Amino acid sequence: MGDISNYFEGVTTVFRNKDLLQIDHVPDNERLIIGRESQLNALATGLQPAVEGQKPNNVLIYGKTGTGKSLCSKFMARQLVSAASENDVSVGVAYVDCFQDSTESQVIRALGSTINDQEVTGETFPASGVSTSECYKRAWRVMDELYDVVVVVLDELDKMDDPNSALMNLSRAAEAEKIQSCKLGIIGISNKPRFKDRLNERARSSLCQRDFVFPPYDANQIEKILEARDGAFKDGVLEAGVIPRAAALAAREHGDARKAIDILRTAGEMAQEEQAETVYERHVDAAQVQTERDHLIEVLTEQPPHSRYVLKSVALLDQRMADDKAVKSSDVNQLYRQICTEQYSSDPLSWRRVRDLLHELEFLEIIERKRKGAGRGEGGYMETHLLDAPEVVIDACDAIESEAS
Ligand SMILES: Nc1ncnc2c1ncn2[C@@H]1O[C@H](COP(=O)(O)OP(=O)(O)OP(=O)(O)O)[C@@H](O)[C@H]1O
Ligand SMILES: [Mg+2]
Repeated sequence: MGDISNYFEGVTTVFRNKDLLQIDHVPDNERLIIGRESQLNALATGLQPAVEGQKPNNVLIYGKTGTGKSLCSKFMARQLVSAASENDVSVGVAYVDCFQDSTESQVIRALGSTINDQEVTGETFPASGVSTSECYKRAWRVMDELYDVVVVVLDELDKMDDPNSALMNLSRAAEAEKIQSCKLGIIGISNKPRFKDRLNERARSSLCQRDFVFPPYDANQIEKILEARDGAFKDGVLEAGVIPRAAALAAREHGDARKAIDILRTAGEMAQEEQAETVYERHVDAAQVQTERDHLIEVLTEQPPHSRYVLKSVALLDQRMADDKAVKSSDVNQLYRQICTEQYSSDPLSWRRVRDLLHELEFLEIIERKRKGAGRGEGGYMETHLLDAPEVVIDACDAIESEAS
């Protein structure tokens, strides 16, 4: 009996407040948001009218993954609510993650239930049994009854099946007299630079009143972002080189703060698993490999098997290459055909399909491709670069295959 309580005794932990390293943690102080002053100012300018109860500008934010788009939007929305309340203006913020809620009906339901207060309005937003148009009507009533201004944050907007219809309905709500007194503003967020191309003329002109880009961080900024979170660890447990190393690794492709924080958290977990009292640089290196592998597995599991066979061929060729030499598509195709039959007993796809798969892998930012030697009279060819270490890519592909079999 008495032994049961002993499990947690003697377990050393390097963490003091691990929540600081959770990805959705929003610092409560702008001093802890590094290097985004001009973006925060631009957002504040766009939202400013709401502080006075007027309609805020709609904005579209885009930038690569881990550049602080979600963080800055959530932070600004929070600031807006408190600044407006000092003027007796009631602002509601509906933050919708369109990756989780990807259809128009899900988005409107999520929006409605976030800003609703059922006891006051009597409205409900059940998961089923209510049409999309009815959800809209309920959401309009909630807005008019409870708020002077509502800001809808549509994060990961490119993941929505068809963003046009929702954007149009939301942006034209006042014009179409769906809402009477409440003013509505939209913040759209995407990490696909070409996202705007998917919008029709009307959705684009209404959403993109202002759009701005969040550029990647440099290694220095990433280092400061990590330092601002070192309270996650107990005093003195981080070896001196740990944060610079994690920052340098995360800034290698593009300055991705999410990746940096993931690496640091994983390094801490690895130290903890070993019951080490210090997080060393070697933990950071191991954490980097693991997070890279986890990320690849997550992305590649969604891809068809032949996409992984093609990628594995690229990785195997890359491994054989000296230094920085790039892999040629014709060699990829040859090796791909060989491993299809020899390792996977599967008929290889046509060269045209292989090319499509390479294109898709490029879109997923797993490989990079450049056209070479396409000058006059020369036959051009594509060079393929792997963005991660070949061993990690091969390992991730194999892990998915053995899971599936
Ligand atoms: N300037 C910053 N200062 C402090 N922390 C930051 C900063 N930028 C990003 N972070 C942290 O890095 C992580 C990733 O940031 P965020 O989620 O905002 O990225 P994102 O641009 O929305 O990426 P994605 O496109 O993948 O959604 C979060 O934990 C966030 O708190
Ligand atoms: Mg985000």
